[in-house]
Formats: sequence, structure tokens, C-alpha cells
Amino acid sequence: MNLSRLAASIAESPTLKLNALAKSMQAQGIPVIHLGGGEPKNKAPRSAVEAASAYLAAGDIKYTPSAGSLSLRKAAAEYTENNYGRKAAVENIIISSGAKQTLYNLLFTLLDPGDEVIVPAPFWVSYPEMVRMTGGVPVVVPSSPETHIPRAEDLLGAVTARTKAILLNSPNNPSGALYPAELMEEIVRFCERKEIWLIADDIYHKLVFDGLRAPNPCAFTGRGVEESRLIILNAVSKIYGMTGFRIGWAVAPKAVIAVMNNIQAATTSCNSGVLMAAAEAALKGPQEGVGELVSLLETNRNAILASLAEIPGVRVVKPHGTFYCLPDFSAFGKDSLTLCSFLLEKASVVTVPGREFGAENHLRLSYCGSRADVVEGVARIRWALDPASPKEIRIGDKTAVRDW
Ligand SMILES: Cc1ncc(COP(=O)(O)O)c(C=O)c1O
Repeated sequence: MNLSRLAASIAESPTLKLNALAKSMQAQGIPVIHLGGGEPKNKAPRSAVEAASAYLAAGDIKYTPSAGSLSLRKAAAEYTENNYGRKAAVENIIISSGAKQTLYNLLFTLLDPGDEVIVPAPFWVSYPEMVRMTGGVPVVVPSSPETHIPRAEDLLGAVTARTKAILLNSPNNPSGALYPAELMEEIVRFCERKEIWLIADDIYHKLVFDGLRAPNPCAFTGRGVEESRLIILNAVSKIYGMTGFRIGWAVAPKAVIAVMNNIQAATTSCNSGVLMAAAEAALKGPQEGVGELVSLLETNRNAILASLAEIPGVRVVKPHGTFYCLPDFSAFGKDSLTLCSFLLEKASVVTVPGREFGAENHLRLSYCGSRADVVEGVARIRWALDPASPKEIRIGDKTAVRDW
């Protein structure tokens, strides 16, 4: 078929593919445990649901300003000041359909063909694809397997004359790693000095455990938003349990936002007023839900670490944030895609192959579901992999027999 070479080169989303497979197994009555999820199970804040309902009830559902409603941009500016100490005008903010579209529009705005974007591994699966789609070249920098955090010299040593941006995500999907303040400081100062864009995808910044706080990148630049090379991305998706509302935003110099706005106007016109009303209410409403989510995730994190510790040969770096961990399964001699399919077939557990995140021989496991699912899911993985396990276990109302 005569398709665009670039478009045809974009890989199918592995997570969505796995979700579809798990759903079809569930439809056949197989009690699949999903450790591949990318969204917490908590309900959206009541304030958000009520605001969306009121907007809908008014019945005036029309186009909105393409950069986002003024009141949500103001709320995002306030959020930025409260959480990052960074003063931003509404012209420094654009609202888009989740952090995903925000990042896509940003890369489209920043990159000329052949421009390089440095992406530390492990990385969120969409980064390299988005960089390629917008004409850029992703330059993947490996991290230490002991920490899943890149060394400053490796990251900054990868910078060339073609480097346009560095793309950071801490706390990190897929590893849960939290970059230390010293590393963040070094990267921020380097980027400001060399005039390289530093994109901080901060979508998980409040989902941090052990009494820690995510280091604030804005604390390390003496520059205000207009002069700075540091661009912050955020969304209501993960921290408010509002993935389906599809609202995210960027905080960047006005000239960058203006071009992102032109791209948005030319592609999607604008965001839905219903969803923006909900996001605004989440930002302005009671915030207790965020703390409750963090403690639930921290309990699940502890449960998954304890369960993984019982599988001989598995090593895992303790995650300090998000709702993912990235255990190393190299002791089992299967590549991550084969292992992932094996676990789905034999133990009815969905995991995500580390290969998709630049971490071959690892699996990404989510602990955003129930604690019971986390514990049972890992117990099934152990059963499938540990030769010392009993020959049979019950999976739902069936007996699974270990015949491999
Ligand atoms: C690191 C990272 N950035 C961005 C996104 C996308 O967020 P949104 O749902 O707001 O588009 C995700 C979702 O999984 C993510 O993990």
C-alpha cells in the first residue's frame, strides 16, 4: 500500500496491544491480572465531575479558545507558581489533550529535521516515536542498571551540535526512579548555559513516596520562564486519576506557546470546554485525594517489592515514585517480549516488555491496581518462573499445570 514511510514506521503501541489481548482473554472468562496498567483506579475528584456536569447541563458546548480557556490557563499558572515557585503569565501556558499531545506539539514546535533529542533510558515508550514523528532523531542514553538514573557525564556527553533538547521524566515511567536534586541541578544549569531546551515531563511529580519530594527543576535556574530553556509539562491525568479527561499543559516562553497554539489551532482547533472545566475544578478544589492516592500507591509499592523479593533471581531497584517498577528478569534467559507473552499465556498476567522502554530483560510492572491483584499477579509470575514452585495452582476456577 502506498503510505507515508514516516507514518508507516511508527510502531504500534505495545501497551494498547496488550490491553486488547488481555480484554479478549477476559471476555473468554480467563481471570487475567493486569500489571500493565498506566492509570490509577481512583475516581476523578468530585469537584471535577460536578464542574463537568454543570458545564454539560448548561448545554452551551461550543468551540473554545485554541490555547485553552482563560480560567484554566490561570489555574495552571497558579499551579506552577505554587508547586514550582515559577511565575507564569497565561501567555506562557497552553492546554492540550493530555501531556501526550502537549509534548507532541512542543516537539513539533522545537525541532527541525535531523535535530537530536536526548532521551535517557529507560524512557516512556512514546518519546522516541514522537521525536521521530516530528522530524527529530532520538538519542538514547543508557542509565546505570543499579539505579535506572543516567550519569550526568553520559547525558551531557551525548550533546552534539545537533542537540535541540533533553527530555527528562522524573519520577520515571517505567522505573519509578526519582532523579536526585544534584543531577537535576547539573542538567538544568548545563541546558541554560548551552541554550538547549530542557523538557521536564512532570506528569508524576506528586506521586512520590518515602516522605520524599520530587526535586523542583525550576529551583536550579536563575531565569524566569521567558528567558529560560526549561519547559515544564504537566497534566491532571495521573495525580488526579483523570486520564480519561485528556487535559495537560506546557509552561514555556510566550514565543514557544504561540507556535504551539498555531499548531493546535490548525490540527484540533481547541480542547473540549467540558473537560477543561473538570480540570480547572480539580486544580482549584480539595487536594486530599492526591495524598490518599500517594499512600495507597506506596502501600502497593511495598507489597510488590515484598512479593518480588520471593522470586529467586529477580532484582529490582526500589521505585520512589509513580506506580511502576522495572524488575530485571535476565536470570530467566528469555528476552522481555518472549517472557511477557509466556507469562500471559501460562499465568494469565499482563506485564509490559522492558524492550519498549529501552530496558531489555526487564518487565514493567504496574502497582496501580488493587493490592490483592499486585500480590496475586506476582505470585503467579513466581509460579511460572520458579522451578521450585508447586506443579499446579488455581487460576480462577481452573487448575493450571506446570508442564514446562
Ligand atoms: C511519562 C509520561 N508522560 C506523558 C504521559 C501521557 O499523559 P496524558 O495521559 O496526560 O497524555 C504518560 C502516560 O502514561 C507518561 O507516562
